[in-house]
Amino acid sequence: MPQKTTISLIKCDVGSLAGHHIVPKLLLEIAEKKLEEAQENGLINSYYVFHAGDDLELLMVHEKGESNPEIHQLAWDTFQETAKKALSLKLYGAGQDLLKTAFSGNIRGMGPGVAEMEIEERGSDPIVVFAADKTSGGSFNYLLFSIFADPMNTAGLVIDPNMIGGFKFEVLDVVENKKVVMKCPEEMYELLALIGSPDQFVVSRVWRARDDLICAVSSTTRLSLIAGRYVGKDDPVLIVRAQHGLPAVGEILVPFLHTYFVEGWMRGSHWAPFMPVSLKHSKCTVFDGPPRVVALGFQISNGKIASDDKGRPLISDLFDDPAFDLARREAVDYASILRRMGEFEPARLSPKLMEYTTLPVVLRRLKDRFSPV
Ligand code: F6R
Ligand code: MG
Ligand code: MG
Repeated sequence: MPQKTTISLIKCDVGSLAGHHIVPKLLLEIAEKKLEEAQENGLINSYYVFHAGDDLELLMVHEKGESNPEIHQLAWDTFQETAKKALSLKLYGAGQDLLKTAFSGNIRGMGPGVAEMEIEERGSDPIVVFAADKTSGGSFNYLLFSIFADPMNTAGLVIDPNMIGGFKFEVLDVVENKKVVMKCPEEMYELLALIGSPDQFVVSRVWRARDDLICAVSSTTRLSLIAGRYVGKDDPVLIVRAQHGLPAVGEILVPFLHTYFVEGWMRGSHWAPFMPVSLKHSKCTVFDGPPRVVALGFQISNGKIASDDKGRPLISDLFDDPAFDLARREAVDYASILRRMGEFEPARLSPKLMEYTTLPVVLRRLKDRFSPV
């Protein structure tokens, strides 16, 4: 029987430094201590703590499967403890994503974002995880389509016989709360019809069609739908499996040769260029952005992240590379063009997509001053 291993990437905005821009080191250290204890107790086999802007990211590898109550409890407790510290320091937005108070076995629907993938380990299993800040779940739609459905992006779709059968996409309708599975290349146009509207339709899972091998899992929370009001964007995370009959790491990263536009940025209410950055530059500054994305590469090895002799996980900071300078340069150029337009659409999202707006208040105030034309 092949080894079954689960990768859990669970994230939460527990509070940040100088507004919504960065998780300070002392919070990362509290989280590391919690996960180190859990590793010593045998609950998890490996972990890596990092941050995407103001979001604390817990990468955990274990053998307990997806949606395991103990793993979710560990993440919940870690977020509670770090949020408590953030609150004591009066850091900004302390505990902003912890929307519910009582934990009942599954962290989904409680505020934090979750991507989990149980795999049967292959001979060698390279993984890429993405984590973004100041954007929303659907911002990975374009990326996932490019990787798993676009033959102009992924050479393997054309020249690797193992991929010729295509891939299946699970698409979540986050407004109507329902899902559908669609197969590419056969249903490519129908798939695009849906996921081209990333505010409503979010790719949540991808499988290789010929054998249902799981290839990608993204987080699909809608915080505003949980809380019933604007509480910050649902900064998403994504786990992608690579190589040997799946897209290569290079095919997974090549969409970021250029930037593309996503929803989010200032007050979750603007179109913005997506900026691939190293961990060092994982902080949102200009107009609370531009929305940034980090990518980490590692190997799954016998239930763990392959580690060095001291047990430290071997992690590659994939966007720490001048090959992504062009995308970063474009992101800054496009950001400056959009900002010149201020609060005029299309720089600003349409009222339907904005996370919050004063428009209803303005219209109410002007109600009696409008006259028929
Ligand atoms: C967007 C985000 C920020 C805030 C903005 C205002 O997701 O978190 O852009 O919306 O900084 O924040 P408040 O209202 O907390 O002052
Ligand atoms: Mg925040
Ligand atoms: Mg955030």
